[in-house]
Amino acid sequence: MPQIPMPTDTQTKPLVEIQGLRTHFFTDDGLVRAVEGVDLDVLPNRTLCLLGESGCGKSIMARSILRIVDAPGRITGGSILYHAADGRTVDLAKARPGSRELRSIRGSDIAMIFQEPMSSLGPIQKIGRQITETIRLHRDVTKAEAREEAIDMLARVGIPRPAERFESYPFELSGGMRQRAMIAMALSCQPRLLIADEPTTALDVTTQAQILDLIAELKDEFKMAVMLITHDLGVVAEVADDVAVMYMGKIVEKSDVYGLFENPRHPYTRALLDSVPRIGVTGRNRLPAIRGMVPHPLARPSGCTFRTRCDHFMPGICDLREPQLKPQGDGQVACFLHEKEVTADV
Ligand SMILES: Nc1ncnc2c1ncn2[C@@H]1O[C@H](COP(=O)(O)OP(=O)(O)O)[C@@H](O)[C@H]1O
Ligand SMILES: [Mg+2]
Repeated sequence: MPQIPMPTDTQTKPLVEIQGLRTHFFTDDGLVRAVEGVDLDVLPNRTLCLLGESGCGKSIMARSILRIVDAPGRITGGSILYHAADGRTVDLAKARPGSRELRSIRGSDIAMIFQEPMSSLGPIQKIGRQITETIRLHRDVTKAEAREEAIDMLARVGIPRPAERFESYPFELSGGMRQRAMIAMALSCQPRLLIADEPTTALDVTTQAQILDLIAELKDEFKMAVMLITHDLGVVAEVADDVAVMYMGKIVEKSDVYGLFENPRHPYTRALLDSVPRIGVTGRNRLPAIRGMVPHPLARPSGCTFRTRCDHFMPGICDLREPQLKPQGDGQVACFLHEKEVTADV
């Protein structure tokens, strides 16, 4: 397979820089601030996990990068700077939907896989044909070369008898095999960033572990950046290099994975960690999940959006001002508990 040339400073320079990103849904009932001011760097050859409960804005944030947010949603602010291999920088947030530039980046530079493989695999076309068409859409190779690469990739993702499976329809494969086929398709163009939105949530534990191993292996081999979305702390512990914790459209804590587990700083992160059932602790003795529920998106609390569920809520502070992400240790946290000048007079 052809190698993507990598500049020497690729290890430290972000591949994607997200700044002040806002993605809102203009619904009949009101404005849903699904993504509300996100700053995030995506680094090559690292796995960044986006962690948060359901409804926190993880998928919409990921879909914003690829510009596949459906109406009535749209990006209303901020930038998503993609630094292409040829040295160009493209602001994906401002690219025209359906433009050639966007289409050429999507799938070839940045690929996305989903929880449900059938959302990227067409039902009525053979697996092999779908992969070769993807390859030929983005690269100038012959049919025979594309076929060879597709079979090679099917083998790489652990599909047995890949030449036979090349001729299979998606419905002929098991769930785990379909997921692998979708990954093969996503990786067939050797993307520089793979976005994986809960890719293993629907799979059994064994297949889930295999797929996560596979993504990690391919990340190292292709020096690919991986953005992995999950609500599962076990998955985070397994695969993350870096973690961004999201709550109500904002990132409340960023850290490398060791810092996050050893010294979680945001009360939401701590609550997430505490809500994980421990081995040997079952049934009624199980630790409680986080108090309360994620507020309705149309009833955003003022100030810190987590304050309605927070054990450390400070009236007069947390309800009046929005905490911003500030450096704390090796990471960043958005919480007034960690801002001495604010809490000193409480
Ligand atoms: N089509 C839509 N119309 C209105 N609101 C939406 C739509 N899609 C998502 N949202 C809202 O955006 C927020 C973030 O959703 P999402 O990114 O899917 O959460 P997550 O992936 O973290 O579970 C939620 O409040 C959700 O209700
Ligand atoms: Mg989601």
